[in-house]
Amino acid sequence: MSDQTDDSTAGCPPIVRMGDPVLRQVAAEVADPTAPEIQDLIAEMTVSLAEAGGIGLAAPQIGIGRRVILFKVPDARATDDPDDGPCPLTALVNPSFAPLDDEMALGWEGCLSIPGLRGEVPRHQRIKVRGTTPEGSVFEAVLAGTRARVVQHEVDHLDGVLYLDRMTDLVRLGFTEEIMEAEAARKWLGADAGTGEQDG
Ligand code: NI
Repeated sequence: MSDQTDDSTAGCPPIVRMGDPVLRQVAAEVADPTAPEIQDLIAEMTVSLAEAGGIGLAAPQIGIGRRVILFKVPDARATDDPDDGPCPLTALVNPSFAPLDDEMALGWEGCLSIPGLRGEVPRHQRIKVRGTTPEGSVFEAVLAGTRARVVQHEVDHLDGVLYLDRMTDLVRLGFTEEIMEAEAARKWLGADAGTGEQDG
C-alpha cells in the first residue's frame, strides 16, 4: 500500500462496465449544449478518455445519461476513404446520423465498458452526422470508415446499445490478446484487429 496519489487520475470519473443499467438506458437530450454543466461533463469525459486510452466515449460510460459523445481517429486507425482520415478529439452534443447508402463494412471494435474483448461489427460505411458543438454551433459532416464507425459506436451508447448487440457472428468475438496473437500466428482473421488505441 502507498499513500501517494496519482495526480493524473485525480477527479477522473471511472468508466462503468457492462452490467451497469446506465449502459442500457436511453440518454436524455441536452437542452442547452453550451450550459456550464455540459462543459464540465465534456471536461470530465476528456480526462476519463485520455486516462483509459480509447478513441471514443459516451456520457453514459461515466454514468451520466445525457446525449454527449467524444471521438477521435488516430493516424494508425484511419482508412484511405476520402471521407475518413485522422481527426482530433471532437465533442458532440445531441448527435444523430443517417446512412448515405446501403453499404456496410465489417471492422473490429472494442469498448471501454467491455474491457479486454474485441469483436467484428458491421457498420454503415458512410454516414451523415449532425449534432451541436459545445460552443452551440451546428455540426454537420459526411464521415466514412473509422470516423463513421466510432461515431456509430458512440451514438449507440446513447440509445443503450452495445457493439455486441450489432454482431452477426459471435465466432468473431474474443479477447484482444488472443485475437492479436492468433492473427499474428495464423492470419486467420483476414482483417486488422488493431493495436494500441481502439476502444470506444
Ligand atoms: Ni463503447
